[in-house]
Amino acid sequence: MRTQVVIVGSGPSGLLLGQLLAMAGIETIILEQKSKDYVLGRIRAGVLEEGTVGLIEQAGAAARLHSEGLVHDGIEIAFEGSRHRIDFKALTGRTVTVYGQTEVTRDLMDARAAIGAPTVYEALDVDLLELESDRPVVRYRKDGEACEIACDYVAGCDGFHGIGRRSIPEDVLRAYERVYPFGWLGVLVDQPPISHELIYVNHRRGFALCSMRSMTRSRYYLQCRLDEHVEDWPDEKFWEELTRRLDPDVVGNLRTGASIEKSIAPLRSFVAEPMRFGRLFLAGDAAHIVPPTGAKGLNLAASDVAYLSRALIERYASGSGAGLDAYPEKALARVWKAVRFSWWMTQTLHRFPESSGFDQKMQAAELEYLFSSKAAQTALAENYVGLPY
Ligand code: FAD
Ligand code: DHB
Repeated sequence: MRTQVVIVGSGPSGLLLGQLLAMAGIETIILEQKSKDYVLGRIRAGVLEEGTVGLIEQAGAAARLHSEGLVHDGIEIAFEGSRHRIDFKALTGRTVTVYGQTEVTRDLMDARAAIGAPTVYEALDVDLLELESDRPVVRYRKDGEACEIACDYVAGCDGFHGIGRRSIPEDVLRAYERVYPFGWLGVLVDQPPISHELIYVNHRRGFALCSMRSMTRSRYYLQCRLDEHVEDWPDEKFWEELTRRLDPDVVGNLRTGASIEKSIAPLRSFVAEPMRFGRLFLAGDAAHIVPPTGAKGLNLAASDVAYLSRALIERYASGSGAGLDAYPEKALARVWKAVRFSWWMTQTLHRFPESSGFDQKMQAAELEYLFSSKAAQTALAENYVGLPY
């Protein structure tokens, strides 16, 4: 087989890249190690920046997002018994859209099927070869049979545990990492949200987040210990703990019920540089992970794809590889700013087990400054709605 670009991974970054390239007449094959249903069963991010929405529009997959997505003008932050609103619209003129990653993935898969572009699900043992030549080769197994694709470029859109980053020699790659001493326990429930906007909670028992997927489906998170398992958290215990971390005046609106999904995610910041090796380009979680606190993971995957798709389109249209050469530096400049913001949100809103009295005073001062300063609120707002690209 032969194609122009092999994309490894059919998460949001791989699917979005495939669509944007298809719009420019560039052929791709997506190789995904899991089944389609498995990919669609993962519950992850929920907040889209305007830039991400714009890219999904360009990809021809935004009809349902526009009819079902919820546009939010701000968020609330709860601390020491009171709630403070950060008004994105007033501070930046911009908004965010609440629409689940699962739905984004489904819409992009449908758009890809509609144009007849190929995805190989359950493609096993993907191996990337000859990446430093001008004719990379990708091998994999499908239904026990060995397959091979010759291509011009490979896009590693295969997430943190994928093969893309691991195909870059160790002496070329430099990784930067911070692992946080807690995780997020997430619950999805078919009940209306507690409030019309997201509430981020810094409570002495730990962080909590009240989010949603629609006006009838809510998503809640609790900071938990790293040694805890979902089996330790029957629904009743989850609702009890969430209730303890919320202000009494919102608790009355909390609608509980049987969870339809429950999972624990560890929190880490991770960046691998450079995002290129020969003709292999990394995008999304394959190159970087952020803690979820700033809702940046999916949005960063989208901005990487914006840069990479423009560079590949330029390469095929004009023969110039300048955009591809500039890709790692351009993408990483934005990545590091989102890493900083997600680290800051995490630092400011969680309770760290090892924090000293001084650390706690610093956190309280940071939040009190935020609540009293329009400049500080603007800094949060412009990062949350998404830096330009
Ligand atoms: P992924 O979505 O990980 O997609 C990569 C794809 O590649 C997968 O389908 C995988 O099966 C496939 N793949 C992997 N290895 C191979 C291989 N060797 N061969 C072929 N295919 C392969 N972000 C937020 O903003 N808010 C959240 O609440 C949030 N929650 C999260 C919870 C979890 C458990 C995780 C893991 C992430 C969460 N994120 C969240 C981050 C966000 O979901 C990611 O940033 C986003 O999914 C990145 O998209 P991606 O396409 O780059 O990677
Ligand atoms: C969601 C996740 C986040 O990390 C966040 O900051 C906001 C919302 C969510 O899953 O709904």
